[in-house]
Amino acid sequence: MPATGDQGKDIMALDRRFLLCGFAYAIAGMGLGIYMAASHNHALSVAHAHMLLLGFVVSFIYALIHKLWLVGAGGRVAGFQFYLHQLAVLVLSVGLVLLYGGVVPEPAIGPLLGAAAVGVLVALLLMAWLVLRIKGDVAK
Ligand code: HEM
Ligand code: HEM
Repeated sequence: MPATGDQGKDIMALDRRFLLCGFAYAIAGMGLGIYMAASHNHALSVAHAHMLLLGFVVSFIYALIHKLWLVGAGGRVAGFQFYLHQLAVLVLSVGLVLLYGGVVPEPAIGPLLGAAAVGVLVALLLMAWLVLRIKGDVAK
């Protein structure tokens, strides 16, 4: 987990990490989209949608927030927020593939998906808190 004190450096790393994770979800999500289109089997569209919207789009937005507003701020909470979002989206993405792919039944995977969903929401609340905390420091 990144240290608190190193002004700018850790947060630069976090914006890049969010970007790279976002691209990974874009590749996986679009790959799944092409597979669905080619196979005419859209059963996994919910997994595809959330991989792209939570994994790619939201990670990309978090990267931009870090780049534009959180430079030199955040510290440990920002590091934790990164891992929480990425872990929760990974569990959600894999879980939705298993659920809508018919591999694991809903009663078995439901609680895990619920926990992952709460993780995504808590990460969002943490990001909102980080932004509110640096309100006075927004320079541009
Ligand atoms: C290579 C690119 C992509 C391909 C081939 C693709 C393909 C598909 C296919 C076949 C479906 C199922 C449609 C249906 O059953 O009605 C779908 C649904 C969806 N896709 Fe994509 N997609 C791509 C990129 C994206 C991107 C970049 C996003 C968002 C950032 C996205 C978001 C969605 C959403 C939200 C749905 C669900 C729509 C609904 O059910 O109302 N897709 N996609
Ligand atoms: C913790 C976060 C989230 C949870 C737990 C969640 C849950 C769900 C559920 C249960 C559905 C209905 C699936 C079905 O029809 O069987 C759904 C559909 C959908 N959600 Fe989410 N969602 C989340 C975040 C988001 C976000 C951030 C976006 C957009 C930025 C989004 C966009 C959509 C779209 C477009 C659909 C329709 C997909 C389709 O019908 O294929 N969701 N979501």
